[in-house]
Amino acid sequence: MKATILVGGKATRLHPLTYNIPKAMVPVLNTPFLEHVIRHLSSHGIKDIILAQSHFSQLIESYFGNGSQFGVKLRYIIEDIPLGTAGAVKNAEKYLDETFLVLNGDIFTDLDITAMIAFHQARTAKVTITLTPVDDPTSYGLVETNARSRVTRFLEKPSRKQITTNMINAGTYILEPDTLNRIPPQTNFSFERELFPLLLDQGEPIYGYPSTVYWIDIGTPEKYLQLHRDLLSGSSVQHSYPVGEEIAIVEQSSIDPTTQIKGPILIGSNCTIGRRVKLIGPLVIGSASTISEEAVIEASIIWKNARLEPGVNLRDSIIADNGRLNANSIIHGSVLGDNVTVASGCKLEPGSKIPPGTVVKPKGDS
Ligand code: GTP
Repeated sequence: MKATILVGGKATRLHPLTYNIPKAMVPVLNTPFLEHVIRHLSSHGIKDIILAQSHFSQLIESYFGNGSQFGVKLRYIIEDIPLGTAGAVKNAEKYLDETFLVLNGDIFTDLDITAMIAFHQARTAKVTITLTPVDDPTSYGLVETNARSRVTRFLEKPSRKQITTNMINAGTYILEPDTLNRIPPQTNFSFERELFPLLLDQGEPIYGYPSTVYWIDIGTPEKYLQLHRDLLSGSSVQHSYPVGEEIAIVEQSSIDPTTQIKGPILIGSNCTIGRRVKLIGPLVIGSASTISEEAVIEASIIWKNARLEPGVNLRDSIIADNGRLNANSIIHGSVLGDNVTVASGCKLEPGSKIPPGTVVKPKGDS
């Protein structure tokens, strides 16, 4: 079976991390997010994958190439203007002549794709939508089903009064190719708001495949941090990450013996950790980063090539590529885009989101 992964969104909610890269290339445990998704598909025997892109298509293609390095065959379809989730798949129609999978490209899940395919086939469904339970469904698309799992109603972003189920559309679908006939070509069209309700109105058999395995979308910085906390505490069955008190240090990094470490921590290659630094997990440090003496870093994600000067205090934050945190700066609960510099002694307001390339100076300095 072929799969189409949707990787052409604007990713505005993940700003400032995604001004210069697509959500698909945001690192998760020092590996582009999309690589995790592709490896998961491949582990279920799905090796023929179409990437539906619009923004930053070059960045994705230059990393993944034809997919052979990852044991899959990759094809790229590029939209001149974003076509929405269903419009993007319509754009890939020439490759989709049999039952196919569609994945939102910003979801990390342990979904049993093999079992979902069997579920779809057993019911001769036109569409199967994965469903997952959430505590607060108000910001998602609710999917109501009957006792036989057939979808009876869709409800986008319901108010509290409208909530009748906590099962939401989890962003993985199996579709029959003739459903593509209902999508207008080269038109912005959505699965969630347009195609699925249309098929339901027409009486087509749409089923919900309920799953309670690990699932999260990395739509916002908070969710992105949550994904790391979860992976480092062993919530997902995928991969062998450092979990609990473990520490994984990739080759050629140098850690001073006076460094205090409380895992789980993942340190990328060619990093240097200086004297009396405190590293408190869950923490990820990207490759080629330098953490100088007496810095204290806790519960944060640092991308590659960061330079943290002596005495930096960093907590609950995300620092994108090439971050420069000068001596004694204090950064708590903040998100810094790529190439941000924070001046010595500067304290950021918690909740700060700093766009790429900014030089943050103490108040009063011009
Ligand atoms: P926000 O701007 O933060 O809402 O993010 P987004 O643009 O990524 O939208 P959303 O999170 O709803 O998208 C879900 C998935 O669909 C993501 O993997 C997106 O990359 C993808 N997606 C959304 N719109 C399009 C589109 O127009 N074309 C393609 N190819 N993919 C899309």
